[in-house]
Amino acid sequence: MTNVRNTILVTGGAGFIGSNFVLQWIRNCSDAVVNLDLLTYAGNPDNLAAIEDDSRHKLVRGDICDAELVAALLREHRPKFIVHFAAESHVDRSIVDPGAFIRTNVQGTFTLLEQARLYWSELDEAGRKEFRFLHISTDEVYGTLGPDDPAFSEISAYAPNSPYAASKAASDHLARAYFHTYGLPVLTTNCSNNYGPFQFPEKLIPLVILNALEGKPLPVYGDGCNVRDWLFVEDHCSAICAVLDRGRVGETYNIGGNSERKNLDVVTAICDLVDDLRPDTALGPRSKLITFVADRPGHDRRYAIDATKISRELGWRPDEEFISGLRKTVAWYLDHGSWVQSVRTGAYRDWIRKNYEERLPQ
Ligand code: NAD
Ligand code: TYD
Repeated sequence: MTNVRNTILVTGGAGFIGSNFVLQWIRNCSDAVVNLDLLTYAGNPDNLAAIEDDSRHKLVRGDICDAELVAALLREHRPKFIVHFAAESHVDRSIVDPGAFIRTNVQGTFTLLEQARLYWSELDEAGRKEFRFLHISTDEVYGTLGPDDPAFSEISAYAPNSPYAASKAASDHLARAYFHTYGLPVLTTNCSNNYGPFQFPEKLIPLVILNALEGKPLPVYGDGCNVRDWLFVEDHCSAICAVLDRGRVGETYNIGGNSERKNLDVVTAICDLVDDLRPDTALGPRSKLITFVADRPGHDRRYAIDATKISRELGWRPDEEFISGLRKTVAWYLDHGSWVQSVRTGAYRDWIRKNYEERLPQ
């Protein structure tokens, strides 16, 4: 019988949301963080440069599918919480290479849950009570909405449409089963699209910021009228802290920004912000770079989140408005040229070529 320590195990904490979470956690809490990350193309230790010399943070390069490694980390560090971000996260990549998504998102989550169950069962009573496994998921598990449908709530039916969404749905079901079958204190959050610093520039917002800055075409899939709900990443991190602190075990919480936008409106807003922050008279208004390209297969039309439950039960609300958050994000990318350069490796350029060369302008 052992007890837990004031340490948390974060998976995928060198990725976009995970690194924002680790930075926020180290800023606000005294607990230590063990950060297990495979450092795939999406993981970047530079995201954590601000806490490089902080002895409370330890980055371990490793795979969540490696049961022995996970077991050893749990035995050595005895975390009170596991916050599970690690995933393959890009829908377009899941269409090209779904196998990687099944491996990390399904097999990896299963491995973590199973090792967490073994670890938790050996804790003393106080440790078992304090322990939490927080599974971070997405609103994409619910599928797509029509223009007048009510937003997704925690009781919406699962109807994933992409290999990414299906793999996340499978992992959500495993997380749920570990609570119901074994009593493991699992919580799940389903969040809408995040944006903010450190997002890998394969996703819409950072891709468009960088292309707009460089005068390159801004690829808009289909008619540009697909709708997403957008949440500033720091608000997602504060919601996760609220769920860890006072969420009810076994529950799921939807997290959203109450900021539904058509893609075309998001792209136009980015153009205006880049024009404002980096005017280029030779180029003219960046909006003229907008290029409609072939649609994503199976492209979900609309996502929207009903965040009433987390607001009512846990008192969480987002702080950032979409336009002010977007301005901060654009300014961050304009100010962090060396970060941008370091992530645009040969592999990144290969992906951009692969994804866009067959999407001829429509
Ligand atoms: P990301 O792709 O930026 O980062 C994923 C991280 O996981 C990377 O650091 C990567 O190296 C790591 N990783 C991948 N495979 C791994 C493995 N096998 N073992 C260990 N580490 C591994 O993703 P993100 O956008 O930060 O998303 C984080 C989580 O939040 C994901 O679970 C995603 O499904 C979920 N989510 C994301 C969004 C969004 O808008 N980005 C919205 C809702 C939910
Ligand atoms: P993305 O950032 O890939 O997130 P998700 O697919 O998880 O919602 O895409 C956001 C929206 O932007 C989505 O409707 C697809 C669209 N999109 C484009 O129109 N062009 C692009 O180049 C990309 C990457 C996305």
